[in-house]
Amino acid sequence: MPDIKLALLGFGNVGRALARLLLIKRDELRRRYQINWQVVGITTLRHGGAIDPGGLDLEQALTLAEAGKDLSPLSLQPATIDGEIFVRLCGADILFENTPVNYQTGQPAISHIRTAIESGMHVITANKGPVVHAYQELTELARSRKVRFFFESAVMDGTPIFSMWRETLPAADLLAFRGVLNSTTNLILTLMEEEKSFDEAVVYTQEIGIAETDPSGDIQGWDAAVKVAALVTVLMRVPIKPAQVTREGIEGLTLKDVKDALAAGRRWKLVCQATRVDDGVHASVGLEQVEPSDSLYNVIGTSSSITFESDVLGDLTITEANPGPQTTAYGLLADFINAVHSSP
Ligand SMILES: NC(=O)c1ccc[n+]([C@@H]2O[C@H](COP(=O)([O-])OP(=O)(O)OC[C@H]3O[C@@H](n4cnc5c(N)ncnc54)[C@H](OP(=O)(O)O)[C@@H]3O)[C@@H](O)[C@H]2O)c1
Repeated sequence: MPDIKLALLGFGNVGRALARLLLIKRDELRRRYQINWQVVGITTLRHGGAIDPGGLDLEQALTLAEAGKDLSPLSLQPATIDGEIFVRLCGADILFENTPVNYQTGQPAISHIRTAIESGMHVITANKGPVVHAYQELTELARSRKVRFFFESAVMDGTPIFSMWRETLPAADLLAFRGVLNSTTNLILTLMEEEKSFDEAVVYTQEIGIAETDPSGDIQGWDAAVKVAALVTVLMRVPIKPAQVTREGIEGLTLKDVKDALAAGRRWKLVCQATRVDDGVHASVGLEQVEPSDSLYNVIGTSSSITFESDVLGDLTITEANPGPQTTAYGLLADFINAVHSSP
């Protein structure tokens, strides 16, 4: 059972949660899946990087990173922070790409992933950017190099969405979907129902670390639009860009709007949806008042939910409660096992 060499590009909330989960599951992976692993490279933007072909001490890397310290002292080779050079030098079998999403272009993650696949690595990512901006190119490249490009955690964290369609719904056609896919805006709406002002709610989502320092990507509906575009591109096989998703954010909603809806027995939700039509797909993100009979009514706080309508199963709903970096890490771990076990 030779060791599988892993590289972590991006060691923030998600990269570190993955490292912790790998350590927790080390014996189980060996026992149940005959998978032995070692991490041969980690890199970041401002906290240095480390490469050691003999295997890095992952616990020590976590201790350094969590103390905000530089990783370079762990490195046997000169550390580099350029992502593409890191990928070429690290000598890994699998790259985990977990750098921040770039909604506009998907870069530099697309270049990192392309370089890794060209070097013969499987690539696993939670980053939506490459999925929505380069799905076709990267999937075809991976197929030609006989490696896997998996991204389960890009939408709804570790909830099995992409793998469910890939592995368990053969020959099913996705006709439509509807759901709540952005945790930050859903929590803001819930907090406003509890009488917090819009600004107070935004600050709270930043304090607990689910909104970005600049939360406009969530609030203006861009994050949700990118997720809709990723689902349409991959599951409906119609490549669309986020700009083609009709988009509305929650920034125009007042406390009075929220209270009025509650008084009338309804709740505001930022609803993501797409429907197949003759000439393609209609996709949108927009505010809706939902009734208690709507499955989205009870999706509150950071939870998310999606209902798929297919030609064979009718409606199929999946709900995720209390997501976080640890559930995102599980999606990456599941992709890791699936990539290793499905390799040609
Ligand atoms: N947080 C979640 O629960 C969640 C859920 C689903 C999907 N995702 C996706 O997962 C990805 C990572 O999220 P996160 O929360 O872990 O972000 P994060 O905490 O901001 O961490 C990002 C990491 O990437 C590094 N980095 C940034 N640019 C880089 C570059 N050009 N080259 C090398 N390293 C670079 C950062 O370095 P420094 O440490 O030096 O800044 C940091 O280590 C994002 O694409 C996000 O959308 C996250």
